[in-house]
Amino acid sequence: MTNAISVDSSRRDFLFIATGAVAAVGAAAATWPFIAQMNPSASTVAAGFPVEIDLGPIAVGQVIKVFWRGQPIFVSHRTPKQIEEAETADWKSMRDPQPDSARVKAGHEEWLVVSAICTHLGCIPTPHEGNFDGWFCQCHGSQYDSSGRIRLGPAPLNLALVPYEFLSDAKLQIGVA
Ligand code: FES
Repeated sequence: MTNAISVDSSRRDFLFIATGAVAAVGAAAATWPFIAQMNPSASTVAAGFPVEIDLGPIAVGQVIKVFWRGQPIFVSHRTPKQIEEAETADWKSMRDPQPDSARVKAGHEEWLVVSAICTHLGCIPTPHEGNFDGWFCQCHGSQYDSSGRIRLGPAPLNLALVPYEFLSDAKLQIGVA
């Protein structure tokens, strides 16, 4: 089952997408927050049903949010500048040191898929805010870079990685079937 969800081409748009077993993103205007409820039920999704994401309509620089296992997940289509900054940053000096290469899949460096839960006290950070073109958490000021790594503020850890795989260049699946 596939349901179309509207997407705005603006890079700052932040879409809120509640997904079912299969979620697809369609091309059309949208405002934030955009909420779409789809089947199966939330309880089924919360149980860990895999979520498929159609990547085609997600513009470069855009971040969407989906739900998997009842948890919000960011899917970020990174710009070349964001990728370069993430790859060249001095990760060894970071609070939770991790190279960008360990946080993305080789050959798909433009896509970052991470938990949308701040590792401080659980707020949801805002994309494209802060000093690192990543995320800014409004609650207590934590800042994450375009690799989702903690760079400033009280959060102790990077945005958590989640299991996913590419089904094709244009589709990924969060969770294991
Ligand atoms: S919950 Fe994000 S900085 Fe405190």
